[in-house]
Amino acid sequence: MRVTYLGHSCFLVETSRARLIIDPFLTGNPSATATAAEIRCDYILVSHGHEDHTGDALALSQRTGAPIIANYEISEYYAAKGAKTHGMNPGGGHQFPFGRVKLTLAHHTSSLEAGLNPIYLGVPCGILIQADGHTLYHAGDTALFLDMQLIGRNNLSLAMLPIGDNYTMGPEDAVLALDFLKPKLAVPMHYNTWPIIAQDPAAFAARASEAGHTVRPLKPGEALEL
Ligand code: NI
Ligand code: MN
Repeated sequence: MRVTYLGHSCFLVETSRARLIIDPFLTGNPSATATAAEIRCDYILVSHGHEDHTGDALALSQRTGAPIIANYEISEYYAAKGAKTHGMNPGGGHQFPFGRVKLTLAHHTSSLEAGLNPIYLGVPCGILIQADGHTLYHAGDTALFLDMQLIGRNNLSLAMLPIGDNYTMGPEDAVLALDFLKPKLAVPMHYNTWPIIAQDPAAFAARASEAGHTVRPLKPGEALEL
């Protein structure tokens, strides 16, 4: 399985059976090295409604025919716009042809279209993906929460965790999250896209290492093999 970081919280996961894109925010993402037009994907997974996560989901779905997998409200929103969708909710899992997806809790918000009339699209989620003998956890945007201990019972191969602070947990809480999640490997996300979420990923990796965890920061465009 190959996991490519596309900047911010966007990852391309290539399993033996399908290409999945998570939180496809490429257009307007200052850290992105790829454009939405060049992405090939079979499934689109969205953690919550914010535009730095939903981003290119609709356009990608319309171009590729890939269904959008997200919470029920986000799925209904995109279904109303003509996209193929699959709605789920936290705690629920579903077997797809490539593997199993389960949504988890996340502590955050989930509106779309900021301004005077934001649309609230259900609750924010984290995403568990089981495929090719690996379990991946994409935390979405979240605060640290104690129930990460339950998510940590999944023998995680990889955890993708926000470290940007301000909107999500920062590096200090992300190290505590690693204590709960115990993944074999973690990749930080949701940092350095804008000055307000500026972080030093090497310092985070060093701090996590002192606590006994393995963190590998990826540059946008960089990939790792599991
Ligand atoms: Ni958010
Ligand atoms: Mn965000």
